[in-house]
Amino acid sequence: MAKAGRLALFLAVTAVGAGAQAAAQTVAATPPMGWNSWNFFAGRVTDKDIRDTADLLVSTGMRDAGYVYVNIDDTWEGKRDAQGRIQSNEKFPDMKALADYVHSKGLKLGIYSSPGPQTCARFEGSLGHEEQDAQTYADWGIDYLKYDLCSYGGVMRQQAPDDPVAQNKLMREAYEKMHQAILKTGRPMVYSLCQYGDDSVWDWGPSVGANLWRTTGDISANFDRMSLIGRSQAGLAKFAGPGHWNDPDMLEVGNGRLTHDENVTHMTLWAMLAAPLIAGNNLTQMTPDVAAVLMNKDVIAIAQDVLGKQGDRVYAEGPVEIWAKPLKDGATAVAIFNFGETASEMRGIGLHLKEMGFGASVKARDVWAAKDLGTIKDDWKTTIPRHGVVLLVVKR
Ligand code: GLA
Repeated sequence: MAKAGRLALFLAVTAVGAGAQAAAQTVAATPPMGWNSWNFFAGRVTDKDIRDTADLLVSTGMRDAGYVYVNIDDTWEGKRDAQGRIQSNEKFPDMKALADYVHSKGLKLGIYSSPGPQTCARFEGSLGHEEQDAQTYADWGIDYLKYDLCSYGGVMRQQAPDDPVAQNKLMREAYEKMHQAILKTGRPMVYSLCQYGDDSVWDWGPSVGANLWRTTGDISANFDRMSLIGRSQAGLAKFAGPGHWNDPDMLEVGNGRLTHDENVTHMTLWAMLAAPLIAGNNLTQMTPDVAAVLMNKDVIAIAQDVLGKQGDRVYAEGPVEIWAKPLKDGATAVAIFNFGETASEMRGIGLHLKEMGFGASVKARDVWAAKDLGTIKDDWKTTIPRHGVVLLVVKR
């Protein structure tokens, strides 16, 4: 290639790269916040549930607290028409009208599909229709796509039997294909990968345009599963940053039989992880207590801090774990979790301020108690309830 030609190609490639990155950063500069239908409604979700949720996101104050994406998960899909265009099923009579409604509330609409022939709930997937589907979503006014591996795992095994390396290559290509299809529509969409953390997705998620990628299997509304998933995120901090986030799955706050302390622990852990905060509860039945947990402004500020640093585990002793998350203003959020079955007095384990880069004493605020603690030292102690947490913001 002539020198001028090479230079032009280099400039073009650089421009596309920079453009794609800029787009990724504007759609998810901080971890996405919103609501998703799966954790509560699962396969029962309807157009009415989405409209009710949109109304309630506004009236409860959740939208203004940052929860702007309303995401329809699996089971909206109908058949394809004669031209191959995907239709929504009878539960969603008019997707464009629904998107208009959601947008009229100052919210954004998300949708769900799979690179395979079928979704996990065995509805129509996007295999062979990627560009057409992305264009349909753009025409409807969709702002967010969760793309769930599901039956594509079978396609991979069939096309490359007994060859996990080749199977993983097929998986990346499938995610890149939909990334290109979205770019081609020209409509910004948050691109959410869901393949349960296989093949260390955090290593390659950004290269296929992902704004977030699931790092684990599915969450459920019980403390053991939630805390297992959250604690398993230790060590992944370096892979997250503005435009691309680890996703330990959607929130179960307000679902199942999670107690107040368990909801607080869940919300705190996800905030410390700079995780997407995608609520999954039924807003028509939300109690004031659950609303207060989901909408604690100081906790959301930690989750959404513009530095975009995911927190990590600093110290663990039995069921007590200390996690730290650096913040933009030089402060650090410090969460002391008690995952154990009885209240803990920290048994003199210390705050481990040195490991966080602090000197002998710090100024501290207790976030959930909304109380300044003044100057504290490494030997500061408190009682942490069973399945509970104390969240501090400390600074020099
Ligand atoms: C998978 C995903 C879930 C949900 C369901 C829908 O299990 O991990 O989050 O989307 O599929 O069928």
